[in-house]
Amino acid sequence: MRHLIDFGDMTREEWDALSARTGAILDRPEDFLEVCRGKVCASLFYEPSTRTNFSFQTAMLRLGGTVFGFADPKSSSMAKGESLKDTVKMVSSYADVIVMRTPWEGAAKAASLYSHVPVINAGDGGHMHPTQTIADLTTMERLRGGVDGLTIGVCGDLKNGRTVHSLIKAMEKFRGVRFYLISPRELALPEYMKAFLRQQRIPHLEVTGLEAVIPQLDVLYMTRIQRERFVDPLEYERCRGVYILTRDKLRRAKENLLVMHPLPRVDEIHVDVDDDPRAVYFQQARYGMFARMALLSDLANQPRWDRTEPVEIGSAPVCHNPNCITQTEWYLPPLTRRLEGKTCCAFCDKELT
Ligand code: CP
Repeated sequence: MRHLIDFGDMTREEWDALSARTGAILDRPEDFLEVCRGKVCASLFYEPSTRTNFSFQTAMLRLGGTVFGFADPKSSSMAKGESLKDTVKMVSSYADVIVMRTPWEGAAKAASLYSHVPVINAGDGGHMHPTQTIADLTTMERLRGGVDGLTIGVCGDLKNGRTVHSLIKAMEKFRGVRFYLISPRELALPEYMKAFLRQQRIPHLEVTGLEAVIPQLDVLYMTRIQRERFVDPLEYERCRGVYILTRDKLRRAKENLLVMHPLPRVDEIHVDVDDDPRAVYFQQARYGMFARMALLSDLANQPRWDRTEPVEIGSAPVCHNPNCITQTEWYLPPLTRRLEGKTCCAFCDKELT
């Protein structure tokens, strides 16, 4: 694995190795204090973050490495008009690994075309968030003994919820997983993700009600309605508060259900759930730090890559998704991929029309 842009970049063997290393770090963190000694992580956060930003920073510090970067996009020269390409070429001259969160879908993939060091996608708009998925899978493995065979309900904003998209992408590596996709119709899973589920033959059912399916779930993965992704504030107002998990609603759930959430939450999990032993979302966030330590211990120690191959120069946006990185970074190559016989943008996965 050179970069982590999408969970599909990782083979099952690479996941098993990462999972084993996460377990070793959790059991004996003192054995890993020097693993990244002398290594430097660049932390480029163009969007707000508590968990991902701080857990990556503390992960690197706990491995003996150091971190530089910003959490406010106004403090980088992109605010002065510098391209993503130039920013990445510069930052990869200084760092051994780049962790990057952006509001633009496909930005981490774009960065990986020009970087001399591994790029980790820490969330690209409403598209993907693969390092949240390594936290999620670690939680399921530690608390349920594995992922195979689980019935998972993902609930909330499935349209804009990048953590849900990455979690679903990961399930091609496991057996017997089935999904309930619980959302209002306006916030249903995007077509490219449904196409992925069909292609991988992962059983799934779209429903609008949470309470009817709760008794069947092994994992309930709640998500926030992503206000920042709505173009129309009235549409957000119509959707907010549609799912609120309470202790009362959990009465019909399995005794060993895992209630998970990538956080931050707004109101979709009532605080009266926090003390239920099935509520594992804070533990999930802590596992994320150890899983990111495992990831950094691999990627930050890779040899620097001297790029000699030129990247093709594009002349127009690859796709029409207004949130796609190709809308603003005109020089990106016109990369596409095929999904169910359709041609899709290789940066944001949306179908090209
Ligand atoms: N789960 C997650 O990505 O949280 P932050 O936005 O706080 O990083």
